[in-house]
Amino acid sequence: MGTNGTNGNVVYQFEYEQRIRSAFIGAGGHSYRNIYPAFQYAPVDLRAVCDLDGERAATYARMFGAGRAYTDHREMLERERPTAVFVVTSYDPDGHLQAVDLALDCLAAGAHVWMEKPTATSSEEVARLQEAARDAGKVVVTGMKTMFAPAMTRVKELVSAPEFGGPSSISVRYPLSMPAFERRGSLVEMNWFLDCIFHPAAVLLHLMGPLDRISHEWEERTGASVTVMRFESGAIGTLHLTAGESPSSPSSRVEVIGDNANIVVENGNSVTYYRPTPPRAYGRTGSFLVPTESAPLHWEPEYTYGQLYGKNIFYLGYVDEIGYFCDCVTNGTSPELGSLDQAFHILQLFEAYRRAEPGTWTTVKV
Ligand SMILES: NC(=O)c1ccc[n+]([C@@H]2O[C@H](COP(=O)([O-])OP(=O)(O)OC[C@H]3O[C@@H](n4cnc5c(N)ncnc54)[C@H](O)[C@@H]3O)[C@@H](O)[C@H]2O)c1
Repeated sequence: MGTNGTNGNVVYQFEYEQRIRSAFIGAGGHSYRNIYPAFQYAPVDLRAVCDLDGERAATYARMFGAGRAYTDHREMLERERPTAVFVVTSYDPDGHLQAVDLALDCLAAGAHVWMEKPTATSSEEVARLQEAARDAGKVVVTGMKTMFAPAMTRVKELVSAPEFGGPSSISVRYPLSMPAFERRGSLVEMNWFLDCIFHPAAVLLHLMGPLDRISHEWEERTGASVTVMRFESGAIGTLHLTAGESPSSPSSRVEVIGDNANIVVENGNSVTYYRPTPPRAYGRTGSFLVPTESAPLHWEPEYTYGQLYGKNIFYLGYVDEIGYFCDCVTNGTSPELGSLDQAFHILQLFEAYRRAEPGTWTTVKV
């Protein structure tokens, strides 16, 4: 995938002949750990960093190779005229997401935008971004990392192959607490849920397509929930948000079923593909070993060498999500992954949870 897709040989930033004139808004914790470091493997020419905290902006600029630091993003846009801006900010005390207005300013200044999830706090805000992106003729990509993780990229290829028979059902598990129904009107109360629902929702959307309707049950002590879902394709699924699990437990599990085939992803990186294989006669089969040519395939990471795939910025999908955005900018293509259309759909799911009481059904589109 992409300029620097992890399916091929990885190109180092300084090896690219053409790099994208870029600026960054936000010098916080997540960007320090995972986004600026991913630029080592992307065609990004980081010119400037902006943060409300000038000292941090200057420190990040020095550390990550940008020439200038700013505390006012409008001044940075005016002076630097970046081709692309990366926005990794946070929430205002009232629960408002800072990135929406910042992204609108970047688009108005003629820059493409890469932004962290959540893209917005409502589908209406995403619609504003869609309109602004259309008017500016620029792309906006959200870092939906779970779609871009190399394991998930392979799962998508496998479920799309004719032998899988098309995804018919899915179960996804992810630890996340949902506030009580009466508290879901408050954006502040819903901040964390919004922040995290993007991770499992992006997997559901990527593998199964848009949702039609959902119904969820909710547990009072932990805020855990189980959602039953039906997709527009007719496929079905469950989302188990496992608040209350032990911090020592692997967090995610995805199982997608086709027709005579299924795939399990444990802990993000352990992938087992149970391939189509002939049925075994009940009471007449003496060996559990299916024919070798249709036996399960299993991938497990190797952690002995100093390989790139052992870095979390690779196996969690950060390098590929940024490489994908750079491809869109360089080639002038519209994003399909991490797109505003996908963000719109995820925000509609978020709104369905705010609207529908446990035990009731609601359509996701209104
Ligand atoms: N994809 C992932 O795995 C992942 C993981 C963690 C966080 N995140 C996302 O990253 C984002 C940032 O999280 P964080 O924990 O790093 O937050 P943070 O609070 O550490 O960083 C945000 C930074 O943005 C700056 N900022 C806010 N408004 C600004 C403005 N107008 N101009 C310039 N700078 C401004 C703040 O000063 C702060 O330094 C959130 O959207 C979060 O959801 C994603």
